[in-house]
Amino acid sequence: MTEWRSYATHLECSATGERYDIDQVHNLSAAGKPLLVRYDLDALKAAMPAPAYEGRGPDLWRYRELLPVREEKHVLSLGEVTTPLVRLLREPGEVLVKDEGRLPTGSFKARGLCLAVTMAHGFGIKRVAIPTNGNAGAAMAAYAARAGMESYCFAPEDTPEVNIREMAAQGAKVWRVNGLINDCGKIVGEGKGPMGWFDVSTLKEPYRIEGKKTMGLELAEQLGWDVPDVIFYPTGGGTGLIGMWKAFDELEQLGWIGSKRPKMVAVQSTGCAPIVRAWERGDEHAELWQNAHTVASGIRVPAAIGDFLILRAVRESNGWAHAVEDADIEAAVVQLGREEGFLMCPEGAATYVAYRQALVDGRVAKSDRVVLYNCATGLKYPLPPSDWRLDRTQPIDYAALAAA
Ligand SMILES: Cc1ncc(COP(=O)(O)O)c(C=O)c1O
Repeated sequence: MTEWRSYATHLECSATGERYDIDQVHNLSAAGKPLLVRYDLDALKAAMPAPAYEGRGPDLWRYRELLPVREEKHVLSLGEVTTPLVRLLREPGEVLVKDEGRLPTGSFKARGLCLAVTMAHGFGIKRVAIPTNGNAGAAMAAYAARAGMESYCFAPEDTPEVNIREMAAQGAKVWRVNGLINDCGKIVGEGKGPMGWFDVSTLKEPYRIEGKKTMGLELAEQLGWDVPDVIFYPTGGGTGLIGMWKAFDELEQLGWIGSKRPKMVAVQSTGCAPIVRAWERGDEHAELWQNAHTVASGIRVPAAIGDFLILRAVRESNGWAHAVEDADIEAAVVQLGREEGFLMCPEGAATYVAYRQALVDGRVAKSDRVVLYNCATGLKYPLPPSDWRLDRTQPIDYAALAAA
């Protein structure tokens, strides 16, 4: 099957199940909850009884039947790639890192924003806006630039400098806001009227999650249409975790995978752990986290609109939610760089810390196949300083180099 065909049929409110027309522009449902794209999986199963992706490119568009884009001419691409599963060599069991830092703009945000901006482009939208901790804004700016759209980004003022400059360099109008991402989200929401922009906030439009879903489709394909035992995911807004959960469900309905599910582990920082707190309390929704702070800026999300969907996926999977200390995250970035040659982003390193702790407390066995998500390249973050110098006009003491 090589022609372009999407099997998307309608949108559905994630809380009430109410149906919405997929050919109209939507943000949230009438109940104020995320909308999810639904597909005619029976028709796809009849047309493609087994996965048949030979001959397609190694990008997320290979899964086009399970994506909402109806016409190929709207597709915006920056050369998305299948991200590798890199095995950690110093771990006792099979620990694979899905390295999302290889995607355009250096993070997995490219998946979601590639889809969201492509859909907006197809709807003829000319102006988009986003609250961002850095990576999402950079990805939106890049795809919007390709579409010839105007983009507006609002980021907490301490967002990594490289992200702010990256957004601006890719044509966005970017503001540093003296608040957190939820404060930025309020500015975007309230600006819809006066600015006429499309709000691309996490889960406030239905398509970013479909892009993030491809992490789950791709992972299953890479594992020979199987799933791992445990997935550790650095959770902010949770789109990736919810998206992967949706992917596994769709794949099972297609009969391409069985009923086995990975335990989904939502990893947060102890400085911002609303999902962990709600999971521990058994709550359905997460309360706003006050005074949120963490070096892992991507997961500094004090309130997530999809909180109930994250918690549901974690619970249904028999997984758990776990918060790790910033000091351990920073130590893990250094350790993994030195010992594995893998420069992770702090959010990715957080999943490693959570995995190590789970190995110690027995929640993960050495025989488990574990996948950690490194969601961005470590090169986008401030690195520890390194400043040894040599005076080439003086004799070099080579023995001292080894001893340094
Ligand atoms: C590097 C990184 N990791 C993790 C996250 C959290 O992703 P999600 O919104 O899917 O929970 C973000 C979001 O900004 C991020 O930039």
